[in-house]
Amino acid sequence: MENTRPRVWVSQPLFADIVGRLHEHFDVTATGEVTQHAPAAIAAALRDADGALVTLNDPIGAAEISGAPRLRAIANVAVGYNNLDVAAMSAAGILVTNTPDVLTETTADFGFALMMAAARRITEAERWLRDGEWQRWSFDTMLGGDVHGTTLGILGMGRIGQGIARRAAGFNMRVLYHNRSRVPEAVERECRASWVDFDGLLAQSDHLVLVLPYSPQVHHLIGAAALAKMKPSATLINIARGGIVDEDALADALQGGRLAAAGLDVFEGEPAVNPRLLALRNVVLTPHIASGSLATRRAMVSLAVDNLIAALGFGPDAGVPPT
Ligand code: DGY
Repeated sequence: MENTRPRVWVSQPLFADIVGRLHEHFDVTATGEVTQHAPAAIAAALRDADGALVTLNDPIGAAEISGAPRLRAIANVAVGYNNLDVAAMSAAGILVTNTPDVLTETTADFGFALMMAAARRITEAERWLRDGEWQRWSFDTMLGGDVHGTTLGILGMGRIGQGIARRAAGFNMRVLYHNRSRVPEAVERECRASWVDFDGLLAQSDHLVLVLPYSPQVHHLIGAAALAKMKPSATLINIARGGIVDEDALADALQGGRLAAAGLDVFEGEPAVNPRLLALRNVVLTPHIASGSLATRRAMVSLAVDNLIAALGFGPDAGVPPT
């Protein structure tokens, strides 16, 4: 008898106990180890699939889906979906889902931690100590900038931006934000945040946190011109996508004393990191882990599994389109 169960491809090893729920409805082909699949391998995996559970490691565009006539849904285990060509998928009638909400607070925690680490030079000081450089206590060791009482700028006032703004209240910070459109007044009040134009945000922020979604329109938005408008004492934090920042321009500014420090969790060519940034001490570098608490990563996988089940017609709801 012909096997009529839909087929699903799981592109990376995720939490087996959660992904196992897919077996109730589907024939599952799962990748055994974390893999940077070649485009041809992705195309081959999708060829007979009805659905796929994928991560930011898996770039999928028109070419990869062109030979996949059965494909109806792709569930991305991330809130961002710039690894997927959503326009090509919509044109092909493929539903794309993402994992908003469940990672908001964890990611906001991390943005705040990166800001504090960069401003107070925590990783730089730790490396200095471990290198045996600490000879005696001294009044001027590793002097950094304050976080409390300063002005926080948030570029992109979505869920995560709002989470960061709420945390800033406990540090008595003035919160400014820029977003294509103003958020409702009630949200501004709750976040104690005021809208300013882009240049105003650059000029007034002591700490500027990037939390906007990536699109080609914001590629290198933070380049030499934008950096020149920032205070030399400021810090720049990026937990959005690497391509928003021109990394060479950032390295120039950090090296030339035109920006105090940066905290970067995302990189344009990740996992490769611009060697100029690696050589600088006034930048905190982390490997794209802002949403990486165990509980949150499990919640992301669980939501993506639910999305895929629903999108293929087995769940209580329809699939959740990207927001
Ligand atoms: C996302 O979800 O888009 C993050 O960058 C990874 O969790």
